[in-house]
Formats: sequence, C-alpha cells, structure tokens
Amino acid sequence: MKRKHSFVLVPLLGLSMALTACGGDDSSGSDDSGTGSDSGSSEAVGKVGVILPDTESSVRWESADRPALEAAFKEAGVEYDIQNAEGDAERMTQIADTMIGNGVTVLAIVNLDSESGAAIQEKAQSQGVATIDYDRLTLGGSAEYYVSFDNTVVGELQGQGLADCLGDKDANIVYLNGSPTDNNATLFAEGAHSVLDGMSNYKVVGEQAVPDWDNEEAATIFQQLYTAADGKVDGVLAANDGLGGAAISILEGAGQAGKVPVTGQDATVEGLQNVLAGTQCMTVYKSATKEAGALADVAIALANGDEADVTGTTVDSSDDSEVPSILLEPQAITKDNVGDVIDDGGQKAADVCTGKFADLCTEAGIS
Ligand code: GAL
Repeated sequence: MKRKHSFVLVPLLGLSMALTACGGDDSSGSDDSGTGSDSGSSEAVGKVGVILPDTESSVRWESADRPALEAAFKEAGVEYDIQNAEGDAERMTQIADTMIGNGVTVLAIVNLDSESGAAIQEKAQSQGVATIDYDRLTLGGSAEYYVSFDNTVVGELQGQGLADCLGDKDANIVYLNGSPTDNNATLFAEGAHSVLDGMSNYKVVGEQAVPDWDNEEAATIFQQLYTAADGKVDGVLAANDGLGGAAISILEGAGQAGKVPVTGQDATVEGLQNVLAGTQCMTVYKSATKEAGALADVAIALANGDEADVTGTTVDSSDDSEVPSILLEPQAITKDNVGDVIDDGGQKAADVCTGKFADLCTEAGIS
C-alpha cells in the first residue's frame, strides 16, 4: 500500500502541544489506561492506543517504554490505553479491535511480524483510526508515521564497538541476530556488517537469527555455532542484551566469559552489569523517554488532525514506499560511560549497583 502524506520536515520538537484534557478518567484505576487530566468539562479530542509486543524479547517494553509512554501522555493530557500482546499476534489483533471499539482515534503498535501488523493497520484505517509504527517498521503496512531510533546506526555502533574491543588482531566472529520477523533485526545486522565486513582481519564463522528474540533459544543456537566453530570464537555480535547474556552464559561454561567480547542493545540492568563486569563489551542506549515522547508528539498531532514534525522518511523495503519518520540517535555504552545511562534516567544506580556490582559502580564513578 502506498503511503501518501504531506508532512513537515523540521527539526524534531519536544512535546509542545497539550490537548485539551479529556473529561474524566476512564482508567478505573487500571494501569493500562488513563488520561492526563483528573477531570474537566473540555471535549475529548482523541484517545491513543499503544500495543507493546511482549515481555520476553526485551525487558525494555514493560520496564522502560510503558512508564515513559504513560508519563508522556499524562504530561500532554492525552487519554491513552497501553496494552501488551504477550508475544501473540492474534492477541494483538484482538486488543486492536477492542481499542478501536473503545474509541481510540490513534493506534500505535510494535508489530510482532509485518503481516499481522499490516492487517491491524489496514483494519484500523478502514475505521478512520490513524496508525503509527512504534519502534519497528511494519513492512507493507499503512502506518502514517514511523517512530524509532536509527536502527542501522544501532548496528553500526555494535559493529564498531566489537571492533574496538577486538582490536586489530585476526578474529573469528559469530553473529546472533534478532528475530527474522523484526525489521529492526535486519537493519541491526546490516549496520554491523557494514562496519565489520570491510575489516579483512575478521572472519564470520557463524551467523543465525533468533526467532522471537527468545533468549533460551539463543543459548542453544550459540552453543551450536560455538561447537561448529570448534570453540574458535573471538567475538560475538549479539543484537541485544538478552541475546548477549545468552552467549555469555555459554562462554562462562567454556571458561571464556570476559575473554570473548560480546555486544548488546537496550542498556538493560543486566546488560549494564555485564558491561561493568567486563563480560559484555558494550550495549546501545536508546532513551525510552525520548522515543515515547516522540510517539506522543506524533499521536497528539494526529489526534488534533495536524501534520507531525518528522526527521525524514524511511523506505519500506517491501514496496519501496516512503514512510514519514521520526528517527532518534542511539548511543554506544561501554565501561567508560555507563554513568551516562544513569545520569539520563535510563536506569537507576540502585538497580544496577547491587551486590558484587556495587564496587564496580564505585570504580566507574557511579553512585
Ligand atoms: C527490537 C527493539 C530492540 C530489541 C528487540 C527486542 O525491535 O528495537 O530494542 O530489544 O526488539 O525486543
């Protein structure tokens, strides 16, 4: 489906709009929906539904994205409903139908796969509901806007991070890529390869995608790749912290944890602890506050019937359509700048600097 939009390409602005508050709070105390207003006689100008993908592929969705989205919508005085599909595409479809039935005027999804995401968006649009791709682009979809980080840059940061940790020695590299149903995973791998493939001293001795980002399956896959390489693996390009942690667990069994650099993404508590401990070479920090704020900006504009400010367009590789996009800049995190994540509010020192990590935090200047 071609996407035809007029949109304004300007530097990304912060949350600059506050909708007139919605009358009353439909949340009935649940933490899945609410509004930024306590009460008010003003007329509702729109309700935003957000469907998060799961709780397994990354802790980010419930620990970072949900609270950031709630804060952004409350700050903007927007009525919202945030649900999690628990990794089930059929459940995501059912949630979307219910949200539309309950009057959402803007629907944002993190698709579990492009086919189910596109079907949700087509049905929403047929009922006059504007749609947004949050974090993951729905290939062949019809979202009016795509809000994410520059995911090719995420991969480039991972590739460069691994190279920095390996140095200029000859090295065998294994790639543990994200889910084949996640377009981001394709972009992460492309970015990493664009950096590493040009370095002739590195050799790829194994590469596999991990279905649904499943961490247990990642451990099995990495064990198989490690065995097939006869244990001659010098570096692991893992697409996020969960996959990185799976590889580290296998390396620990082989007495190689901390000797074989491993990458990650999401700057999770576990990922930052592994970086401080030296078993993980780096992670990539993507501020949920910034991403949620950008989604709220777009949702508010759509709820108001306005154009949203974008940073550019993203080509949908399935049909070459151009999707108006807001792409934010990710940040590479190593042992030297873990404090940046804490200072930015991406994680709490109290959560990261526990037990044996307390001394490592002190050494890293984190308190
Ligand atoms: C990607 C997301 C990443 C990663 C992964 C696992 O789409 O951009 O942050 O964690 O999903 O859910």
